[in-house]
Amino acid sequence: MSVADELHPVINAGRVALITGAASGIGRAAAIEFAKLGLKVAIADVTEDALQEVGKTLVGIVGEANVLVVPTDVSKLEQVTRLRDRVYEAWGEVGVLMNNAGIGPKGTSWEGLDVWHKIFDVNLFGVVNVQQTFVPSMLHQENPAMVINTGSKQGITNPPGNAAYNASKAAVKSLTESLAHELRERPHCNVTAHLFIPGWTFTGLTSTSPSGEKPPGAWSAEETVLYMLDKVRSGDFYVLVPDNETKREVDQLRIMWAAADIAEGRPALSRWDPKWKSLYEEYVREGLAQLDV
Ligand SMILES: NC(=O)c1ccc[n+]([C@@H]2O[C@H](COP(=O)([O-])OP(=O)(O)OC[C@H]3O[C@@H](n4cnc5c(N)ncnc54)[C@H](O)[C@@H]3O)[C@@H](O)[C@H]2O)c1
Repeated sequence: MSVADELHPVINAGRVALITGAASGIGRAAAIEFAKLGLKVAIADVTEDALQEVGKTLVGIVGEANVLVVPTDVSKLEQVTRLRDRVYEAWGEVGVLMNNAGIGPKGTSWEGLDVWHKIFDVNLFGVVNVQQTFVPSMLHQENPAMVINTGSKQGITNPPGNAAYNASKAAVKSLTESLAHELRERPHCNVTAHLFIPGWTFTGLTSTSPSGEKPPGAWSAEETVLYMLDKVRSGDFYVLVPDNETKREVDQLRIMWAAADIAEGRPALSRWDPKWKSLYEEYVREGLAQLDV
């Protein structure tokens, strides 16, 4: 155990963690990890049966008094308000607010308007609802606290394939950066914000393998969560998580290339433009060689 683990004021036994989207995948793994660390854990999700099952697992780790299972649709403000009331009535605080619920149905640029609304209701307004409802209470606590919003690399490099999902996650990046700034500017503020950017993680959202087995390129939800906790404990704002297919250095180069599309006036998403493909590949090859990877 490192010094950061021992002394961390938020991710520590006795504090409270609230995780949305906790019935499955990354949220479930995070809830289990927080419970193993001795935190009180409140879990919220729209999928009730699976949420109750996770609750039973958590009770087995931290005991009934330290687990709160609150079925919640984060896209419904009144349900989020009820969630806050339940958690504050039970424990009087939130140490870690993990805004993680997300969905990924496909919406293209000129089709699937209903999908766009659905995805923004959950991936963007779910986060906004939870942030607006919980942060004011967290600001009034005397002890430190943190907000961890789950974004996506797709919200940064915008790969073709799901315009609606990418746009929703780009919004999560933007609102979390603003949150971090506003918290930093507030005098004597004890709350920090973190943008959690998972790599390819084998979960309900990404599982397409008929065998049900984790593809070699993906990380397990537990691996992704342990990496995230380590970086958040160190105080990182951007928690860019690798996987077995994409090293951190490759992500760095992809992000730099995407930013240079704007700075250098290249076409949108030039990484996927046949005219730019070979230049992009050369950029990554040279970049990795320079980084000695
Ligand atoms: N798995 C990956 O590779 C990956 C990569 C980048 C980002 N993410 C993000 O990680 C987060 C967790 O996803 P996951 O991969 O664990 O997927 P998952 O499908 O296993 O878990 C998402 C959970 O969110 C819940 N949820 C959906 N709509 C909800 C709502 N309205 N209210 C409350 N809960 C709701 C689902 O029921 C589910 O339990 C998502 O925000 C996702 O976009 C995942």
